[in-house]
Amino acid sequence: MDASIPYPDPATRRTALASVFAALDAELRGAAAKSTDASTAKSLREFTRLLSSIGPNLAAREPVGPSERLTVCRFWDVGLRTASGIPNALVAALETLGPCFSWVQNPNYRRQPPDPSFLDNYGYAVIAGPADGPPALGIDPRLALGVLLLGPHAHYPLHAHPAVEIYYTLTAGAEWWRGGGPWRQEPAGAVIHHAPRVRHATRAGVTPLLAMYLWRGDLVTHARLTGGGPAAPA
Ligand SMILES: [Fe+2]
Repeated sequence: MDASIPYPDPATRRTALASVFAALDAELRGAAAKSTDASTAKSLREFTRLLSSIGPNLAAREPVGPSERLTVCRFWDVGLRTASGIPNALVAALETLGPCFSWVQNPNYRRQPPDPSFLDNYGYAVIAGPADGPPALGIDPRLALGVLLLGPHAHYPLHAHPAVEIYYTLTAGAEWWRGGGPWRQEPAGAVIHHAPRVRHATRAGVTPLLAMYLWRGDLVTHARLTGGGPAAPA
């Protein structure tokens, strides 16, 4: 994240946020139409209902403080550069919003990191979410969405949470585990659905993983590592 990139003005932020919501809405609608699982399709449509009804003034919120950076942010630029097969408007909007992001980490992982290098290779930034959550560019009490960044080969081990979750991958090459597995590699532009409390894990490949996440339901309860489960893929 180059410090020379200008911090966007409110109008530019509003436009970029609208682009993010519109692109995600379109991608999730497409995924719902193609899904062969009725409950997943219904869940995806519920996310699109929320996305398409986000208030137009949400982006007018001024940042509450200076943007926070984490060690993993060294991979932000390469993550964006290797994003492929997804709408150009979404990549451009994220590039615009990047300087505004406040990067955070799950306090459960900060207290007890799953491995010694994890906290240097993991972080997320909230684009929209509830007012009492981590710093967000916009406030919406009904859903949380943002970006997840993992460094190369970072292993985000099995964890679970009560929120319904979607990941929308911006980069290719990461491996994903859900429920009973097995590990599977997903391309850029994949929509990955996690029902409440289902155990899931992710491991980045040789390049950083950049993905968007969306949560609805219980937005307060942080994910917890569940232990056990699959070994990291070779
Ligand atoms: Fe999750």
